[in-house]
Amino acid sequence: RQQAPDAAVGGPVPIVRPRRLRTTGAMRSLVREHTLRPADLVLPMFVREGITEDQPISSMPGVLQHTEDSLVRAATEATERGVGGLMLFGVPKYKDAVGSGATDPDGVLNRALARLSRELGDATVIMADLCLDEFTDHGHCGVLDAEGRVDNDATLGRYREMALAQAEAGAHLLGPSGMMDGQIAAIREALDAAGHLDVGLYAYTAKYASAFFGPFRDAVGSSLSGDRRTYQQDPANGREALRELELDVAEGADLVMVKPGLPYLDVLAEVAAASPVPVGAYQVSGEYAMVEAAAANGWIDRDKVILESLLAFRRAGATTVLTYWASEVAGWYRDGL
Ligand code: PBG
Repeated sequence: RQQAPDAAVGGPVPIVRPRRLRTTGAMRSLVREHTLRPADLVLPMFVREGITEDQPISSMPGVLQHTEDSLVRAATEATERGVGGLMLFGVPKYKDAVGSGATDPDGVLNRALARLSRELGDATVIMADLCLDEFTDHGHCGVLDAEGRVDNDATLGRYREMALAQAEAGAHLLGPSGMMDGQIAAIREALDAAGHLDVGLYAYTAKYASAFFGPFRDAVGSSLSGDRRTYQQDPANGREALRELELDVAEGADLVMVKPGLPYLDVLAEVAAASPVPVGAYQVSGEYAMVEAAAANGWIDRDKVILESLLAFRRAGATTVLTYWASEVAGWYRDGL
């Protein structure tokens, strides 16, 4: 850096001064690179079968397991606030080895999708988690073979059926989150064969076997014992995220996602730089819980931390961000942040 002598102070002073662009609010606003809008945010929601009142989730304060009615109310409110979309998860009353509830048109998730589709139409983008883990009694994302291992190709058949049920219920985008090989191609083919050409796939492309999903397992009453390391990615690996991206795009993914969020911003940035389709980030349950817990202790400024974390996803290259704060944050914008 060049230095000019300054007689008054006696030492050299900087000629290049980045602080000039930080002097006033108007100046900072002028040079701001990234923004956040309600439409960038997707709200994940839980609907639970067999309850008459919505239920709190202890490890996710502020997030609810909804009844169908409370789901519709909360979804309508989020839509009115301008969130970009809703990602729906079902919590069934009964589970079995193949996750029958996932493909039953009368199952909790498919019923709720149909109801949201009737009530909201195209006013928002209705998305559905396409995975068996909430519906299986062993809690894995697929069906098991005779040795108890997750059977990739048998699972694809179940995903195809699940996709048809969700498309018929009116979902606009399906979110395959099970990390089975070939899942995007299998689902795309099933949808196209049934004439669901406009139903898109929001692929969970780089999804890691993460401890940050902990509170989510409470949220869906997961039956899992063990882990998902034979199908979700190793947190030690970055390169294979790009391989998964290549495969998902080739198989027909319309959007791709990186998950979890903040601990994987490096992966997000690399995927965003390489992806020909829009990229999303999922700020997962454990990230939510950490901020809420620290805020509850008065250790951080909750609202500022939330906005800063969401902006970080945009800076790293995410077009959409799935966050449990989506509706609340959209409300802040409506009220003039
Ligand atoms: C699988 C699924 C999970 C999450 C989203 N989809 C759980 C898992 O893979 O174990 C986690 C979301 C979160 O932690 O917020 N259906």
